[in-house]
Amino acid sequence: MSSEPSAVQTPNAFTPRIFSGIQPSGGLTLGNYLGALKRFVEKQDEGIETIYCMVDMHAITTWQDPEKLRHQTREGAAAFIAAGIDPARSILFNQSQVPAHAELGWIFNCVARLGWMNRMTQFKDKTAGKNAEAASLGLYAYPSLMAADILVYHATMVPVGEDQKQHLELTRDIAIKFNNDYGVNFFPVVEPLIEGAATRVMSLRDGTKKMSKSDPSDQSRINLTDSADQIAAKIRKAKTDAEPLPDTLDGLRDRPEARNLVNIYAALSGQTAAEVIAENAGAQFGTFKPRLADLAVAKLSPITDRMNRLMQDPAEIDRILGDGADRADSLARPILDRTKDIVGMIRSRRM
Ligand code: TYM
Repeated sequence: MSSEPSAVQTPNAFTPRIFSGIQPSGGLTLGNYLGALKRFVEKQDEGIETIYCMVDMHAITTWQDPEKLRHQTREGAAAFIAAGIDPARSILFNQSQVPAHAELGWIFNCVARLGWMNRMTQFKDKTAGKNAEAASLGLYAYPSLMAADILVYHATMVPVGEDQKQHLELTRDIAIKFNNDYGVNFFPVVEPLIEGAATRVMSLRDGTKKMSKSDPSDQSRINLTDSADQIAAKIRKAKTDAEPLPDTLDGLRDRPEARNLVNIYAALSGQTAAEVIAENAGAQFGTFKPRLADLAVAKLSPITDRMNRLMQDPAEIDRILGDGADRADSLARPILDRTKDIVGMIRSRRM
């Protein structure tokens, strides 16, 4: 009998498929919307196969209140749908309902090298100033599970914000090493899609820090659950400098706060930053901020309203996530099975 696993196929070309995920570890921000959600919808509407996930197993790498985690997972799903994800066209689910992620994650823990993990800047940032010895093992292994999220679907493209770039490089390294170690061409080498004017939306209080759901200051971010008044007030109070807007992009180079507001305007309006500068050259912030606030409210408030309406029926959200999980599972399962064959694991035919 041949020792070759007969079920193993090694495709040379992979069908274009998009995967991306968001952690339900807090409310979603304008950064998540512009850097991720809005672009997820664009990809869906381009007609590419799209798979989107609330990554609850990633969220628990730092302790989460169980009730809040459930709420935030539903709220995140509601945000996807409110932003334009159609659960009939895209697959939308929460990670823990598809066990293949964890199973492939373990196999990848055995492929990824300690040296690679030690270079991950997000782990260093998240433990900076704290006792790194007290961080969970899950937080350390986090990027390996992220690689599994993507590769368990043979996804080829991953839309993300700038902060995920290093994790996607690790995903590529894991795919390449797995393929080399086992002499196959089984996992695709994924392409990060980091595009547009808002790949790194910055804090409204400090233009050198990323806008983040974990920033202790609520004034630093716009939440997708903020009311129109809250959005306008936060933009009015956003830190800026005293100069009017320049007439070229170059004039924004050493002005991180001004550049951030211009980039946010560009991403919300679908323009380039250069077009926004051309339209607003010489404007004082007293003029530009109200324009930005009006635009932000016009774009975000309908999403917030839809989210709130969807959240009134949590059972329907759970049904959508369950349906998405079934569809995700049926894509992931055969890829995981073939991975097990490649690695040399016996599996009974009952699966
Ligand atoms: P998370 O939950 O921190 O963020 C979700 C997405 O939002 C983007 N993002 C931003 N983009 C621009 N400006 C910002 N200020 C900003 N803040 C967040 C992130 O880049 C991301 O695209 N590790 C991931 C979740 C994940 C994942 C995956 C992503 C798990 N598995 C597989 C892609 C593929 C994370 O923590 O994202």
